[in-house]
Amino acid sequence: MHLSLKPSSQWTACVALLSGLTCLIAPTAAVKYENFKTCDQTGFCKRNRAYADHAGQVGASFESPYRIEPDSLSWEQGQLRGTILKTIDAAGETVRLPITISFLESGSARVVVDEEKRQKGEIELRHDSMARKERYNEVESLVIIGGLSLSLTAKEERDVGKTTVKYGPNGKFAAIVKFSPFSIDFARDGATQVKLNDRGLLNMEHWRPKIEKAEPEQKEGEELPAEVQTGEDESTWWDETFGGNTDSKPRGPESIALDITFPGYDHVYGIPEHAGPLSLKQTRGGSGNHADPYRLYNADVFEYIMDSPMTLYGSIPFMQAHKKDSTVGVFWLNAAETWIDIIKEKEAHNPLSLGLGSKMDTKTHWFSESGLLDVFIFLGPTPKDITKAYGELTGFSQLPQEFSITYHQCRWNYNTDEDVKDVDRKMTKYQIPYDVIWLDIEYTDDKKYFTWDPLTFPDPIGMLKQLDESERKLVAIIDPHIKKKDGYHIVDELTKKDLAVHNKEGNAYEGWCWPGSSYWVDCFNPAAIEWWKTLFQYTAFKGSAENVFIWNDMNEPSVFNGPETTMPKDNLHHGNWEHRDVHNINGMTFHNATYQALLSRKKGELRRPFILTRSYYAGSQRLGAMWTGDNQASWDHLAASFPMILNNGIAGYPFAGADVGGFFGNPEKDLLTRWYQAGAFYPFYRGHAHIDTRRREPYLAGEPYTGIITRALRLRYALLPTWYTAFHQASVDGTPIIRPHYFEYPSDEQGFAVDDQFFVGSTGLLAHPVVTEGAESVEMYLPDDELYFDYFDYTLYSGKGKHTISAPLDKIPLLMQGGHIFPRKDRPRRSSGLMRFDPYTLVIVLGKVGMAKGELYVDDGDSFEYEQGAYIHRTFEFSNNVLESKNIATKGKLTDKFLKTMKDVAVERIILVGIPASWTGKSTLKGGVEIECHAAEGPTAAWATVKKPGVKVVEDWRIDFNSLSHVRDEI
Ligand code: NOJ
Repeated sequence: MHLSLKPSSQWTACVALLSGLTCLIAPTAAVKYENFKTCDQTGFCKRNRAYADHAGQVGASFESPYRIEPDSLSWEQGQLRGTILKTIDAAGETVRLPITISFLESGSARVVVDEEKRQKGEIELRHDSMARKERYNEVESLVIIGGLSLSLTAKEERDVGKTTVKYGPNGKFAAIVKFSPFSIDFARDGATQVKLNDRGLLNMEHWRPKIEKAEPEQKEGEELPAEVQTGEDESTWWDETFGGNTDSKPRGPESIALDITFPGYDHVYGIPEHAGPLSLKQTRGGSGNHADPYRLYNADVFEYIMDSPMTLYGSIPFMQAHKKDSTVGVFWLNAAETWIDIIKEKEAHNPLSLGLGSKMDTKTHWFSESGLLDVFIFLGPTPKDITKAYGELTGFSQLPQEFSITYHQCRWNYNTDEDVKDVDRKMTKYQIPYDVIWLDIEYTDDKKYFTWDPLTFPDPIGMLKQLDESERKLVAIIDPHIKKKDGYHIVDELTKKDLAVHNKEGNAYEGWCWPGSSYWVDCFNPAAIEWWKTLFQYTAFKGSAENVFIWNDMNEPSVFNGPETTMPKDNLHHGNWEHRDVHNINGMTFHNATYQALLSRKKGELRRPFILTRSYYAGSQRLGAMWTGDNQASWDHLAASFPMILNNGIAGYPFAGADVGGFFGNPEKDLLTRWYQAGAFYPFYRGHAHIDTRRREPYLAGEPYTGIITRALRLRYALLPTWYTAFHQASVDGTPIIRPHYFEYPSDEQGFAVDDQFFVGSTGLLAHPVVTEGAESVEMYLPDDELYFDYFDYTLYSGKGKHTISAPLDKIPLLMQGGHIFPRKDRPRRSSGLMRFDPYTLVIVLGKVGMAKGELYVDDGDSFEYEQGAYIHRTFEFSNNVLESKNIATKGKLTDKFLKTMKDVAVERIILVGIPASWTGKSTLKGGVEIECHAAEGPTAAWATVKKPGVKVVEDWRIDFNSLSHVRDEI
């Protein structure tokens, strides 16, 4: 976010200087590159790349200066401890780096390296800094919530020069730790899958005092001095200046780096958030590649560009590497600024790899500015194994409020409470379903959160009551910056209690954001969380009520006058940790504080919080949804949203969406329409727009657009039981809600880079929303020989490979894969709350072998009672012409009570697609149930409907269709 271009200042400037007309011109797409550092402008990034270049140039004779002292090694119950010695000069002087390698019961392994001198506090800080001396060691307590039990079966076998640990399921994993130079190879079933320090790029910048000496100079035409080439370039060790801000770096150079190689793997995914393809690109230049590493440094990037490794608002340093039938992963647990280089080279160790069909090694190089070296290794072998193991550590996705996975209507801003009520009435009038209307920053009194503008929102409770009549909700924005204003009770308390982030001198840090001069609540401080909790109580946040939920924006944090639009790195958080150490997790701590606060709004009220966050880190998935920030109303931004959401999903954070319609600019009606169709497949589905854009509520588009948009919205609502079931699955095993091909078909190489179509949960629904201007069809890729049917007209497609699917503006390319059953609720309603007791429709999509399977998960969509068994979980199975519903729930204390509330909810219709040709006409099944069969016609498959099958959703039942093959049309 660039101060001079942000709307409030833009408005002021416009009013003061320009004619009104200029203000209406939408900003053009161009990121302010100069506001953000490139690798070359980032000391530790440049140093570590130089180190890698040097190693590459020296070639085989380059030797990593890190070795394990064999005598230091000790093994105890799944854990290997010892010391790495780093040789730092020609005289052989060394630095001691304690290492712990843990082998976890889950089959994951973890390598942690610290620096003894810093650990013991035996270093001196410059500039009389108050900062902590240790490498930051608290990220684990914020991120990891389980899965750390050590393996009882792992076995170590020491040898000359190396030690081997066998671990994992049936001991099929091995870690071969080589002592000198230090490296670890991780193998599965005897084959190496992940290599640490294989290229010798491990680099832990040890503490050293600053010795004043002349800076190295480079004259034109001359080579850089040797120390610059080897990464020992002192010019970036100490204070660094960028864009007029100087970082005092009181601890000097302290970066950590490691190369991680995936032998034989040619695809890597994850490490969101970046706008680019699902399958990550190479980053060391060359045609089609990026020139800079992927950067993770949460930032408010104004008008971000496409296909770029530039940092965005959130970061999850978790990567999956994939090749045919094998997936492995790494999780780099570090909250400081991080960059990741990726190169792909022909497999080095395989003599067969030189010819046709040869495989790649993907070589990655990770570097963070400070903190511990802490990396988890997952050996798969399937994408699902990886996601599950990662989720056991960082938590699975929150089971959200059910309303929050329907449609949200937002803009910056709904201007008054009357405006909100008017939009609400119009959505009802036009029969457009929506669940939530949102208020952006303008609802507040002068950007003071927890207040309402008395002129424009005089009656928030009246507004909330109207929304509640349709079981609709309101989301209000609350940002982390607190206006510095005399008499504003929140800022008074914040400063009096000393709960704000400090500057390097230890005073409350003051910066500039929406309210003008502001302080930032320091959510690393447990006392700040306790205080934050009090602010959301209904009695404290006057004008809020049970149907109010929260949006946390600007939590990177965005600071308009800070370096790279964020906080100075030498700011201090609770415990005197430097902001540098914790930057990437800052947004999550704010999200977490709000989550805790919503849990304590009222004594005895225990409802699932819903909070949208812009900034995030590994673990944020436990707290709510994220969105991809300030995108543009353009086709390329629409197209980019899917790879971004897919990458987020495989990095464990699937509750993701993008602003429907595009935040900046005014979408043409066909773009808006296509975006609503696409958004119907975002796990988080919200229309949002910048304050300078024209109003674009769906009823304003006019026909045919409004009608088409309404149908897209209704599709989302009809499929709500299916989406909710997918969210349930994500909450128990981490599987993404929308899933890329490689995830579902790990053997199908043609699908590994596909990111413009995806599966919805495990339902077999395969969607390929149109994201290109004027397209009337799409090429859809089918990964197997199963039967696929068009969702809307049952046209049959089959045969692995590409198929052209016609897609005029009113059509979403959506196929149903044979072999699945999914639930719907087909009655159009104003909101999801009103659908709660509506009957179900079951869609049975028969596969090649005439079988199908599916699931349904239902609970109250609001409380935590599901944890005590208050839910329905069933499988539906169709085989041998019998459809059966079976309970797979585990009974708990509240099961019976919940089932009682649901006892009358029926299955009102069953649709069978792809029925045998022998099923014809209208017939009556056993028990008097009527079925109407439709024969195949041209490309359209045969299908049937059973109306009123007379079965309830809470019950076990079976419907036998066997009589049908004999009974012909009797009418
Ligand atoms: C930036 C957010 O990304 C955007 O969605 C929001 O409308 C503005 N802040 C104003 O709050």
